[in-house]
Amino acid sequence: MTILLEARDVTRSFQVSRGLFAPKRRLHAVNGVSLAVEEGEILAIVGESGCGKSTLARMLLGLLPASSGEIRLGGQDMRAMGRLDIARRVQPVFQDPYSSLNPRRRIAEIVALPMEVQGKADAATCRRAALEMLERVGLPERFAQAYPAQLSGGQRQRVAIARALVMRPELVICDEPTSALDVSVQSQILNLLMDLRRDFGTTFVFISHNLAVVEHIASRVAVMYLGQVVELAETAALFEAPRHPYTQALLASALTPEPGLGIPETGLGLAFPDPLDPPPGCPFHPRCPKRIAPCDSLAPPVIREAGRLVACHFAAQPPGTSVTP
Ligand SMILES: Nc1ncnc2c1ncn2[C@@H]1O[C@H](COP(=O)(O)OP(=O)(O)O)[C@@H](O)[C@H]1O
Ligand SMILES: [Mg+2]
Repeated sequence: MTILLEARDVTRSFQVSRGLFAPKRRLHAVNGVSLAVEEGEILAIVGESGCGKSTLARMLLGLLPASSGEIRLGGQDMRAMGRLDIARRVQPVFQDPYSSLNPRRRIAEIVALPMEVQGKADAATCRRAALEMLERVGLPERFAQAYPAQLSGGQRQRVAIARALVMRPELVICDEPTSALDVSVQSQILNLLMDLRRDFGTTFVFISHNLAVVEHIASRVAVMYLGQVVELAETAALFEAPRHPYTQALLASALTPEPGLGIPETGLGLAFPDPLDPPPGCPFHPRCPKRIAPCDSLAPPVIREAGRLVACHFAAQPPGTSVTP
């Protein structure tokens, strides 16, 4: 097992203000995340809207500096790497194919650009690679001269995928790549990603709120809650026996995802806590049906066993222990 990308105790906070004259406050969007992406795997990241998935993704892509902690790509601290070096190895596919493509550039230019900025190949070579990649994602040559506005959402996402893969990066980070698309084209885009992954041997980080998709494609799943990873396990193990009460609630929830809204109804109510005012102790304790005495005051212990991570007081209890809430 080779670790391609590693986050070590990564945090990211933002200064935000609730109103024009309200004082600025610090919002912890990502709060102490450690995880490793293994070569060849699909690591899924799931969690409700606002839990910090996109902020983490932007840090893993080197697009947003961490407030603290370290991200290592191929064993090297990303802060010591140049933007072009990172871009050659890690590429994004974002949720919204409408805003992620430059409307004033033609499709072939958009796909060739990441290769051109590397400065290692001449324009004709970059264009040829772009056309080949477009063909590979199902957009024949007649699309090359088109502008993004002339394409459907699914076609634009194909362009974004071609752009991400034109340089054969080792890692692609997809942030809800199908959730802005019509249901009818979601599976086509997903199948395309999986075909490319097989052909190119690409490693994936796959952010999604669609648990059915995650169960189908992911090797491992990280569950995030309020900026933290609360459980991380191999996909089969997680779906068969979720150990964190939040994971249990997610898996028990009705799967009716709305684009961009994250996991909609967890059976826990919609009271996702205010990230500006996080609860003390375990961040999940106000909604947790299994909370016990220390949950509202002490941060949960992190249990690591058999390739699994669970951050929970309740899960740390020996089986059969009776507990008083
Ligand atoms: N640039 C920013 N400035 C202020 N707050 C932000 C910024 N980006 C994200 N946030 C906040 O950080 C939290 C996590 O956001 P995000 O990473 O987008 O979550 P997710 O992708 O899981 O929905 C949210 O509370 C969001 O409002
Ligand atoms: Mg997001």
